[in-house]
Amino acid sequence: MNVVLLGPPGAGKGTQAKTLAEQSGLVHVSSGDLFRAALREGTELGMRAKGYMDKGELVPDEVVIDMILERISQPDCAGGVIFDGFPRTVEQAKALEAALLRHQQRVDRVIYMSVPGEVLLKRIAGRRTCKSCGAVFNVYYFPPKTADGCDVCGGELYQRSDDTEETARNRLEVYFQQTTPLIDYYRGQGTLNEVDGEQEISVVTDAMVAALGLPSKA
Ligand code: AP5
Ligand code: MG
Repeated sequence: MNVVLLGPPGAGKGTQAKTLAEQSGLVHVSSGDLFRAALREGTELGMRAKGYMDKGELVPDEVVIDMILERISQPDCAGGVIFDGFPRTVEQAKALEAALLRHQQRVDRVIYMSVPGEVLLKRIAGRRTCKSCGAVFNVYYFPPKTADGCDVCGGELYQRSDDTEETARNRLEVYFQQTTPLIDYYRGQGTLNEVDGEQEISVVTDAMVAALGLPSKA
């Protein structure tokens, strides 16, 4: 099964994808995480993406598409993927479809996470991520027990450089202009399920598990 999580910045795509991947055995593929890893490694891809990410603009389609198709060609993805942050344009969606079709696969389910704009900005402003293990916290909704340490591994927490208010507002604007057409695109294909992403994390997870037909965690 291949699943796309569609939603604005701060909707909870990364949070939910991690849990769903653990519960389903599908592989979590996040375009944003791949770019951030490339940047940490100082690769050409990372340097190329940085300018766009810092401004909250989309990285050009051909760059993202090449990166994702390369990632999903790896053997661990053969059993199915949870896509987080990709596709973000109709061109990316078509490229994904064509690539999956070559392996007799398709995008089976798209989950659209809706969350109001003011909640998104607060979630983005409050997000803190662990440098060591990648655990994600939120200083407003579920703060770490110590101010700047990770509850899971004790690692250092950091704020993403594109989580400033100005960049976050632009990311939201870019989302509305360039990504929301995908809602109708997938609705037209009959694969779209909408989930209210404003609810508590575990309630959102339960709704997604039901939408995907996964066995619920008793
Ligand atoms: P990317 O990394 O994909 O960022 P994004 O889409 O802006 O989404 P976020 O990661 O900000 O939010 P999320 O939905 O994952 O929320 P999270 O779970 O962390 O992309 C970054 C950049 O890379 C783009 O701007 C672009 O430049 C480039 N890029 C990436 N993909 C691209 C593509 N396909 N094409 C072109 N360019 C691309 O949650 C947010 C916070 O809220 C956390 O603190 C979390 O703990 C908290 N939270 C989550 N759920 C809840 C809840 N239910 N209640 C309360 N708090 C919650
Ligand atoms: Mg994310």
